[in-house]
Amino acid sequence: MTALPSSYEAVPYPDFVHPRTNPESIAAMVRLFGVSAACPLGEPCRVLELGCGQAGNLISLASLFPESQFLGVDLSPGHIAAGQLAIDELGMTNIELRQGDLADFPTPGPGDDERAKFDYVLVHGVYSWVPEEARQHILRICRDHLSRRGVALISYNTLPGWQAKGLVREIIQYHGSVHPGEPLQTVREAKRFLADLAESVPDSTGYGKMLREQFQALCQSDEAYLFHEQFEAVNEPRYFHQFISEIEAVDLQFVCESSFAFVPSQSAGIQRRMQSAPLLEREQTIDFLCNRTFRQSLIVRSDSGAQRGREADSDAISELFLSSEVSCFDVDDVPLVDSLPEGEMRIANPDGASATLRGRSTMAVMLRLSQIRPAAESFEQLWQHVLATVAGCEDSNAVRTVLREDLLQLAQVSMVRFHTGPLPLTHAVSAKPQASQLAQWQAARDNVVTSRLHQAIRLDEATRTMIGLCNGENGLEEIITGMMQFVSREGVSLQHEGQPVTDPNLLRTLVAEKVPANLKNLAEMGFLER
Ligand SMILES: C[S@@+](CC[C@H](N)C(=O)[O-])C[C@H]1O[C@@H](n2cnc3c(N)ncnc32)[C@H](O)[C@@H]1O
Repeated sequence: MTALPSSYEAVPYPDFVHPRTNPESIAAMVRLFGVSAACPLGEPCRVLELGCGQAGNLISLASLFPESQFLGVDLSPGHIAAGQLAIDELGMTNIELRQGDLADFPTPGPGDDERAKFDYVLVHGVYSWVPEEARQHILRICRDHLSRRGVALISYNTLPGWQAKGLVREIIQYHGSVHPGEPLQTVREAKRFLADLAESVPDSTGYGKMLREQFQALCQSDEAYLFHEQFEAVNEPRYFHQFISEIEAVDLQFVCESSFAFVPSQSAGIQRRMQSAPLLEREQTIDFLCNRTFRQSLIVRSDSGAQRGREADSDAISELFLSSEVSCFDVDDVPLVDSLPEGEMRIANPDGASATLRGRSTMAVMLRLSQIRPAAESFEQLWQHVLATVAGCEDSNAVRTVLREDLLQLAQVSMVRFHTGPLPLTHAVSAKPQASQLAQWQAARDNVVTSRLHQAIRLDEATRTMIGLCNGENGLEEIITGMMQFVSREGVSLQHEGQPVTDPNLLRTLVAEKVPANLKNLAEMGFLER
């Protein structure tokens, strides 16, 4: 038995949702690399999460894929109790939580049913934070419990990026030990100490710059998260190549990352090396280029038939669905809504990253995806759309190939996402919009609510109220009335022509004007069900 991590009883780990652990996005990612995994959008899957914490991640997945079965295991009684309470209140029947040590997770016997194995094993935020013995159990469970088509996601802290973070952790640990009664006070003191240090070391030195960057990163993190990041007894970051040796030693095999890495601009020398290097060597070089701190690697059994070191193949896109968060603009930065521009087109992500497109068929696809955002359409549907909207576009394999290659490149810079089917959400607001039961339950309790894109989003009071009103029974009039009640209950002051509004009729008119746009916004964030 590994020791009970009582630190998690003193300070529960925040209940995060990890978008890249979504089995449907994992299935699409590995498909590009030649692996045909089960997909919960089309068939019931079995999903195991090791070290599931308070199970927020697993609960969101279980709500997205009601036909699939989910099992979460965690050593912390407090985490499991919190997760179970949520499951009971939600009345979910496709998720089971077990309190226990990874070390005690049973090894299947020779006669055990292959159907009892898992299509997905998720291990997020655990591998680097447990002793060697527990790490070996994680790998054993992946090897023994993955089905032949199964995929595991293991996240881990990586070098060289953790070199600087590790140094700060050592400074913080030297500075103070944990106050038994007030663990979060320890975090606050550690932050103050680091702030003093960062202020004293001149910016002109590399060391001063590093301290300041690390301090700023610390300031953006949740205190409970920081407590565990800085004070857990074990934290062993590793190089990607070390991780590969560890998994290959137990007959597991790397396929790809759960998302494409942002690779900064490269010198001619690095470009030459990257072009000729095999996949695993290139992945390690990317970590050196990006000073990477974290990976979420996708892994299969060595006997799965997957080819080691296989490259992404744009041909696979023919079988996939695509979605995008981008908005489209013409050369003068005028937003494009329904027609292609004469010349180039600029696309921009919500985070500000942008790209310029020149190919007409790629422009047509991206404009279509921006119109149906955040929903997904199949490559085939998008191709038919290209033929219908791009004058003179030839229906040939050569043009389709160029389009697929363009789309793969756009995915590599986070402008496109791949899926294995239509997403369980709608971009169109129906007459009686419906938010998921989970979103309604969360919105009534907390300001962080999980979307149908498996993303946790911080919302204001008004948006939470609107999610509660989107129960599949209320039409537009009832939602407007509900928002009027919210405005008067909360004492929200609306302005019209620079004056506060007191006339109830004008108030209703103003609220009624805003509600359709707000509902559209909910749909764009992925909160409305199909
Ligand atoms: C850093 S938290 C990560 C929680 C969650 N997976 C996430 O990424 O948000 C690590 C979790 O692993 C659990 N854990 C640590 N050692 C364990 C063990 N030997 N067996 C089962 N769970 C363990 C802890 O209780 C804790 O909930």
